Amino acid sequence: MRWLSDLFGVNMPSTYLFATTDIGIEDLAAKEVSSLLNIRGTSVEITTGRVYFRAKESDIITLNYWSRTLNKIYILLAREGIESLSDIYRIAKSIDYTAYIAKNQRFAVRAERHGFHNFTSIDIARVVGQAIIDSYLDSQGHRLKVDLEEPDVEIYCMLRNQELIIGVNTSGFSLHKRNYRVYNHPAALKTTLAAAMIMLSNWDSKSGFIDPMCGGGTIVIEAALIARNIAPGIYRKQFAFTKLPMFTYVDMDDLKSKFMSLANTSYYPIEGIDISPYHLEGAIMNAMSAGVDDTIVFKVGDARKLRDYIDFEPRVIVTNPPYGIRMHHRNLQKLYHDFIFSVKEIPDVTIVVITAASREMRQIVSKADLELVHARKVLHGKLNSEILVFNT
Ligand SMILES: C[S@@+](CC[C@H](N)C(=O)[O-])C[C@H]1O[C@@H](n2cnc3c(N)ncnc32)[C@H](O)[C@@H]1O
Repeated sequence: MRWLSDLFGVNMPSTYLFATTDIGIEDLAAKEVSSLLNIRGTSVEITTGRVYFRAKESDIITLNYWSRTLNKIYILLAREGIESLSDIYRIAKSIDYTAYIAKNQRFAVRAERHGFHNFTSIDIARVVGQAIIDSYLDSQGHRLKVDLEEPDVEIYCMLRNQELIIGVNTSGFSLHKRNYRVYNHPAALKTTLAAAMIMLSNWDSKSGFIDPMCGGGTIVIEAALIARNIAPGIYRKQFAFTKLPMFTYVDMDDLKSKFMSLANTSYYPIEGIDISPYHLEGAIMNAMSAGVDDTIVFKVGDARKLRDYIDFEPRVIVTNPPYGIRMHHRNLQKLYHDFIFSVKEIPDVTIVVITAASREMRQIVSKADLELVHARKVLHGKLNSEILVFNT
């Protein structure tokens, strides 16, 4: 992103940022941040569901448009230990908000709390809101207005046990909502988890890639976006950073067309298969909406007889089979069994699977004598799930 430094000049101010991600993929999010921002070594700190790092202001734009595993990106204003609500007020009041909220803008405080405290998250939001108004009044002689429905700027506070974090939301709604989905599969996978699974597969973009239970197409679409170097943010109409005073002079249309010009239009061998013609129709609509339908072959087919439906040798299979929530347990076991044994027939394949029924999947992988090379627990929505990677 060299031209971003042209836009901002070489002496761009640096700042502390943090980003939220899905629980279980924090290391992949840290790796992605390091590679997008060219950060070396261990300068990205990982905590549960979050990564912290130092970056330039322009990196806020890069991350919002280009990250595939992050949910929201924040400017870190404070990170301190507290004992009481009055500590929270004192810390929030000591911050200078003039770089983040213009006089004519309205703000809202969103608060979250985990642990045991003798006050609620509503109390935190109230106290921090007052502290922001008081701080601004002291430094600018101006009383800021609050708008809880449609604020220009959202200040986020998180208290986990004794640790308080205050930040400015630069993303708005979560980045996993890419905005290309026109068909919502009832059991759709989060795009961030799909991207993480593709990273774990070490797919090289050139060899055959299949999702044999593709549903609404999330995994194959994310694979196509990666292969084509398409910024997943280009489909969004809104980012919160556009309202921050430091970015008001950035021409968003220009930025978007520059990012789009970095994409390639090459063909990649990606296939999406599903047993349901209805879901497949939805997947095609989603791929068209993302502009990658010309590099994904969609087929109605049965993952239990994969060989009958594919006409090339895939090197990577990434899939999100049914979890069995609306399915009889024995049918789920049978589906997993038949799928794994049909995949076993294909040589030299890396398979990445996400499932909440990981005990069943692990048993069958072991019964099929496949080599389990990686396993990690992740949270998919509220469901405890596991990503398993194994080879034939
Ligand atoms: C959890 S959903 C996949 C959702 C998808 N990852 C998305 O984000 O939209 C599982 C899919 O597996 C499909 N499926 C179930 N049994 C199948 C089989 N034997 N062969 C192929 N697809 C199957 C279902 O139709 C369903 O769409």
